[in-house]
Amino acid sequence: MPENQQGSGEPRGFTLWFTGLSGSGKTTITNLLVKDLLARGSKLEVLDGDVVRENLSKGLGFSKEDRDTNIRRIAFVANMLSRNGVPVITAAISPYREIRDEARQMMDDRFIEVYVKASVEACEERDVKGLYAKARSGEIKEFTGVSDPYEEPENAEIVVETESQSPEESAKQIVDYLEAQGFISAN
Ligand SMILES: Nc1ncnc2c1ncn2[C@@H]1O[C@H](COP(=O)(O)OP(=O)(O)O)[C@@H](O)[C@H]1O
Ligand SMILES: [Mg+2]
Repeated sequence: MPENQQGSGEPRGFTLWFTGLSGSGKTTITNLLVKDLLARGSKLEVLDGDVVRENLSKGLGFSKEDRDTNIRRIAFVANMLSRNGVPVITAAISPYREIRDEARQMMDDRFIEVYVKASVEACEERDVKGLYAKARSGEIKEFTGVSDPYEEPENAEIVVETESQSPEESAKQIVDYLEAQGFISAN
């Protein structure tokens, strides 16, 4: 294990903060990363948007206010874990730049924004969960990318181009970044 920047020899905590449309690949890439990082003996916690909305944020809806509350809760937990050396992956749409930047400020150099990039058209084509069809028909209101805003990151540390990469390539790009930055040791 390489020395961390604080020189204590303990691994550095970090938060991989995924942002991207529904169906862009956040959960898919997270699952690949979990396998890789756990195989290296890393601690790890995942805060997946869909899971968080079933417990920590149960009862919240999709208004701007509720979305912001949901993301602030995720940031709060990610900060508590990562400051104690536990790597965290958050996989929620987190559509608003301002709230992502709040999370960034909170976690400072432990915060790694990952834009899981795919166009609305590509996500709609994939429509893994059938949600885009429901959004188009009006059955689901306030659907990000269709009837609700998505603010693309402007300065993400990592952009994974999921329309031209496989999930494995996207995961490798992220692992390579973590290695290059000294967050994890080379395998
Ligand atoms: N490079 C890629 N990275 C991630 N997913 C991809 C990629 N290319 C195609 N896909 C597909 O896109 C879909 C993404 O779904 P999911 O991971 O559930 O998205 P999200 O969690 O962002 O809503 C999956 O069916 C996955 O197989
Ligand atoms: Mg998901």
